[in-house]
Amino acid sequence: MSVLVTQEAPDQEFFFDKGILARFPEMKVCLAERGSFVLRDAIDSEKIYQYRELVEKTHHIYVGRCADKGIDYRTAPSDWQGREGWEGIAHALRLGQINPGWLTHCFPDNSIYHLVSEDLLLFVAYFFGAPYRKSQSTHTRWLSPDQGTHRERFDHPVEWHVDAQHHGTAEFTINLWVPLQDCGLTRPGLQAAILPIARAQALAGFNSGTGAFEINEALRLNGDPSVLDGVPAFAPAMRAGDIFVMTHWTLHATYAVPKMTERRLSAELRFSYPSSIFPEALGPSPCGNRQSSCDQEPDGPSTTSPQHCDRLRAQDGGSTAPD
Ligand SMILES: [Fe+2]
Repeated sequence: MSVLVTQEAPDQEFFFDKGILARFPEMKVCLAERGSFVLRDAIDSEKIYQYRELVEKTHHIYVGRCADKGIDYRTAPSDWQGREGWEGIAHALRLGQINPGWLTHCFPDNSIYHLVSEDLLLFVAYFFGAPYRKSQSTHTRWLSPDQGTHRERFDHPVEWHVDAQHHGTAEFTINLWVPLQDCGLTRPGLQAAILPIARAQALAGFNSGTGAFEINEALRLNGDPSVLDGVPAFAPAMRAGDIFVMTHWTLHATYAVPKMTERRLSAELRFSYPSSIFPEALGPSPCGNRQSSCDQEPDGPSTTSPQHCDRLRAQDGGSTAPD
């Protein structure tokens, strides 16, 4: 498998600047035909630093609570995964994971979803073209380049997979993968196979014609990624504030090479809509529809406001928004 950096895959790089509205159609096509893209300068770096600190504090608070219960999260066994209560929490901590609810519980006026600006939600609404919601699978995660070398035992690089293996096929999900620090150079980054969705589904064991998902096929992929031989992978170096955008059918894995020696912290902000197929319909014109397509809970991202549309349109030099 050849690994392409941004310069070698210019079609997969977009800048969240004054011209971004006009590029929404390209971004959606990119997800359908190539599986992913990187969105540069999408989040203010100060906000990234603020949330990195909140995640670290939340982790510290929950580690302390586990200790109060007599649990050393570093020794949480694998079969505690998904359990209710402190055993499940300890297992998540061992993987380096923080769930959004924990952070909001510790810091009530804050939500990891606040990383996503109203401007950015314009693309999410455009992508789905239908009501969507926050996914329960959103979380933040530390990842160490090598298993066992870090004292907290945060998990090792993640093997090739599609998120549908873990989250099912009933809902189509878009994943905004947000590194909370620079990655892809000294810290592990992310890589994704450059494939149309239909091919990625087939390689992952899903028959889009029948809707059957052969999970054993997917597990074979995890154990033997040789099926990806000849398929290029996209692995951009990223700065805090960039976002890697993909779907739950995008084949992806940690991008880790020996020179990467530091752990990294990232957030996976997921949005779903209740259909297994790629949302073919184009969403509302970002500035032509004053209604939000997002049925969020109150702590979720704000609705699309006329003010934001007007501001983006003004930045765009008055050009017509895509529809
Ligand atoms: Fe994943």
